[in-house]
Amino acid sequence: MIPISKPYLTEDEAASAHDTILSGWVTQGPKVEEFEKKFCEYTGAEFAIAVSNCTTALHLAMIVSGIGRNDEVICPSMSYIATANCIRYTGAVPVFAEINPITYNIDAGHAEKLINKKTKAVLIAHQIGLPADIDAFRKLCENHSLKLIEDAACAAGSSYKGKKIGSHSELVCFSFHPRKVITTGEGGMITTNNEDYYDRLKILRQHGMSVNAMQRHIAEKQGKVIQEDHIETGYNYRMTDIQAAIGIKQLKKLDWIVNERRKIALRYISELKDINCIRLPDEEEGYFSNFQSFSIYLKENSPLKRNELIVKLNENGIASKRGIMTSHRETAYKKEYSKIKLPISENTSDNSLLIPLFIPMSEEEINFVITTLRRLLS
Ligand SMILES: Cc1ncc(COP(=O)(O)O)c(C=O)c1O
Repeated sequence: MIPISKPYLTEDEAASAHDTILSGWVTQGPKVEEFEKKFCEYTGAEFAIAVSNCTTALHLAMIVSGIGRNDEVICPSMSYIATANCIRYTGAVPVFAEINPITYNIDAGHAEKLINKKTKAVLIAHQIGLPADIDAFRKLCENHSLKLIEDAACAAGSSYKGKKIGSHSELVCFSFHPRKVITTGEGGMITTNNEDYYDRLKILRQHGMSVNAMQRHIAEKQGKVIQEDHIETGYNYRMTDIQAAIGIKQLKKLDWIVNERRKIALRYISELKDINCIRLPDEEEGYFSNFQSFSIYLKENSPLKRNELIVKLNENGIASKRGIMTSHRETAYKKEYSKIKLPISENTSDNSLLIPLFIPMSEEEINFVITTLRRLLS
């Protein structure tokens, strides 16, 4: 069976985790600090805060943006459910905007129509690695005095207008889940250029504590005692040093991993583009995707419906999966959003699927996916 994805982890990461385990410092400490510093260097952001996953990153981003009970936050419904859930965690209400069917990313024109007095922020997602139009949303948020938050769970290594994702706006949240292009098992990162956000995020991720374990440890070595205070209700959203040790090694390979993924994605595009019943991903000038996933949209003239194609691929030993979900039709949201219709998101979600893309993927595997798709869709 050819899987949809596989993390790219080697002896290098294993050795790094091993050494960290034996170092005696296993949770948020020197490795987390090093990972954050290197992530800043990579993205060009001023500050980075490592956390336990992207969902917790997004939750903290909501809190420092001042989002609270009954506020409204505009976001795409067609995204992984964590995008909407993090808004609900604060007592605020996700308001779902349509997507662009070609890019799968939130539509700025529709988002603008949803703004009202309760709207406090817009949460954009860079779907499956392709950046959303960040400038359009920066302008929209500036014009309406709204906060802008980027859900960049899938977008480590992607770029927008020549700059790496992570450096464009005040709060950008990444995931290092194994389904992403680099992984720490579970893990997340927030980048920001706002020092006030940075200071508060560091406190919020560890129980609201005024000093961290490293600061206490250094003080003890100098014969001083620092008494910590818990200055607000915080969370335990820490990353471990074991995860960070893996992350440091993964980050070093990120550009290479993206390059390898792109070679496979571009092969798929060039060898499937003449099939007239499908639509393939498209990168406009200024948009650079890490191809975290590869999605195929089946047009109305497709000989097989999406689920039929998934079954046929499976029978041929190729794993595939429904495309990105729509949050408003999931059980946790269905009742509250029963009157909401998002025809573009619904149609795109129902007729798209993700196909295998991982490294290293052999020539034989790539060719087999291409020839099987060509045979089934001709
Ligand atoms: C768009 C998006 N946002 C958020 C998340 C949540 O990330 P994590 O699993 O690191 O919490 C995901 C994970 O798949 C995602 O795809």
